[in-house]
Amino acid sequence: MKYHTDLIDGKLQLVFEDKNFTPLFVDFATGSTGYRIRHPSYELIYAAIGKAKGLKVLDATAGWGTDAFILANLECKVTALENNDIVFRLLQDGLRRASDVATRIHLLKQDFFEFAKTTFESFDVIYLDPMFDDDEDKTALPKKEMQVLKELVGTTQDAHKYLEVALNMKPKRVVLKRPLKAPQISNPKFSVEGSSIRFDIY
Ligand SMILES: C[S@@+](CC[C@H](N)C(=O)[O-])C[C@H]1O[C@@H](n2cnc3c(N)ncnc32)[C@H](O)[C@@H]1O
Repeated sequence: MKYHTDLIDGKLQLVFEDKNFTPLFVDFATGSTGYRIRHPSYELIYAAIGKAKGLKVLDATAGWGTDAFILANLECKVTALENNDIVFRLLQDGLRRASDVATRIHLLKQDFFEFAKTTFESFDVIYLDPMFDDDEDKTALPKKEMQVLKELVGTTQDAHKYLEVALNMKPKRVVLKRPLKAPQISNPKFSVEGSSIRFDIY
């Protein structure tokens, strides 16, 4: 898949050589994210983080920022990390164009493992949604977005490492997003299940 980034209509967009793929950009106002922002009480992630507003959350794997934005819409103060340059720039541009909710997200272009080594901050919740190699296309992201993310960032087999590093940072809870049928990693305290995804709580 060949692509490049371009500023079109004031938005940073990922443009594909294959014209079957329409350009991709980050947008929190329309589509399914826009709907979720307007109906926050339906969010499963709210139960997963402990049904409290105003929590300090580290989203260690920001991606297209949907989960970070949903959390910020639940009044959480979110530090979001993304280590892929293209994904980071598209997300940064989406946040620049977004509503005031985005002011509760502090986006950093940084690797989670490096951040964990150097930060003195503490968090109520560490939220993990890396692209595990057994995730296939069963996650909450729409197919196209997921396919492109896989192409850009690849997958990881190292689920235990993310969990171990997050737990060592001693938050009140770690939330790991998994496809519904994916195997458990270590022993979560409990899980919050949706129709296609699951949040494992540690
Ligand atoms: C499945 S996506 C996350 C999707 C996101 N939850 C959303 O709502 O859009 C995983 C993202 O985590 C990023 N990532 C994976 N490992 C990382 C790490 N160690 N540090 C920072 N970002 C990481 C990848 O580049 C990718 O963009």
